Amino acid sequence: MTRRLPLPAGSEPRAFAAIAAAAAFGLLLTGLGGCSDGSADTPPPSSPAPSAVSLEPALRDAAPDGFFVGAAVGGGGHLGGNDTLKLPDVAGLVGKQFSSVTPENAAKWEVIEPSQGTFDFGPMDEVVAFAQAHGQRVRGHNLLWHSQNPAWLTSGSFAPDQLRQILHDHISAVVGRYAGKVAQWDVANEIFDDSGQPRQENPFIKALGIGVVADAFRWAHEADPHAVLFLNDFGVETPGPKVDAYVALVKQLQADGVPVGGFGIQGHLASQYGFPGGLQGVMQQLADLGLDVEVTELDVRVPVSAAGEAQRVDVLEQARWYGKVATACLAVARCTGITVWGVSDRYSWVPTTFPGEGAALLFDDALAPKPAFAAFREALAAGRG
Ligand code: XIL
Repeated sequence: MTRRLPLPAGSEPRAFAAIAAAAAFGLLLTGLGGCSDGSADTPPPSSPAPSAVSLEPALRDAAPDGFFVGAAVGGGGHLGGNDTLKLPDVAGLVGKQFSSVTPENAAKWEVIEPSQGTFDFGPMDEVVAFAQAHGQRVRGHNLLWHSQNPAWLTSGSFAPDQLRQILHDHISAVVGRYAGKVAQWDVANEIFDDSGQPRQENPFIKALGIGVVADAFRWAHEADPHAVLFLNDFGVETPGPKVDAYVALVKQLQADGVPVGGFGIQGHLASQYGFPGGLQGVMQQLADLGLDVEVTELDVRVPVSAAGEAQRVDVLEQARWYGKVATACLAVARCTGITVWGVSDRYSWVPTTFPGEGAALLFDDALAPKPAFAAFREALAAGRG
């Protein structure tokens, strides 16, 4: 049941907000994993109730042994280069709550190879150092993509052989530098469009064809034989032509002896589209191919006001979704981790990318844990069942 609240979040009197917060907390403890109409009799609550959600146990401690709970870190991109890992309160949460980190932008081509053959490893080095200081795994992201490429690459007029060499040299340098320090690489990111066709806006695929993907995996494997090498995409949360294209590609890569080891389901979910009911089935299908599966970029965006505030009913529904993603992943033996795409709503990529939507993460603008945090943790703590 979906219900719109008449009042913008935060406009109710304080006493009512306290009652509502208590009611919402009760809901969290009892009803999150189950029926979607559990909120029907709950009075309309107001702003999120940070005091109702404890930060302990941490997500990384609640999760089963060996299951990774990650966050994208480092900011940049939509933040104009600002690095959220340098903010003590964000860094504190990342260090305590998560067991894996992904550089949100630091390892993308435009950052790490800003001019041809000249690498800026500084931002990625900082992510790796942070992870080492906090006993965290690093997911590398990414090596072959159509977006966030430097102008020298996209505007250059390179012959196909030159592009091949450029890609080889990039992968060798980047993966080689972090060999033994980065556990997984998203080797190929978003290489198919929604109909399952190779993306022609990817400069390497355009010039060299889809076969370049196999080369990228081989080169990454040469540079670090221990890293688990991933395909990664959005729009693969439910069955469809894109999933079919990946299944066919994985089978082909495996037949050719290409070291593909994992599949990343990004998981950029939006309340307006409904929960992807086929998620667990897709995870199992990919795992059955012999791949590790991870949710690599989870966020759940909801409609927000001009001030960036979400309706309480959406905040609670979002919490259920976080729980459902964790439950689905944990039900699949080879689903080995979930990474959320940022920490605080305040620094999320969502509002700048999807106007009118936001509040997609586990911590609010003030870095307080949201109902989503509690629900996610509860599902992680329930384990693999
Ligand atoms: C996003 C970052 O979060 C932004 O900071 C940046 O401006 C654009 O890219 N799929 C991906 C991620 O694989 O790399 C994207 O990250 C989000 C979509």
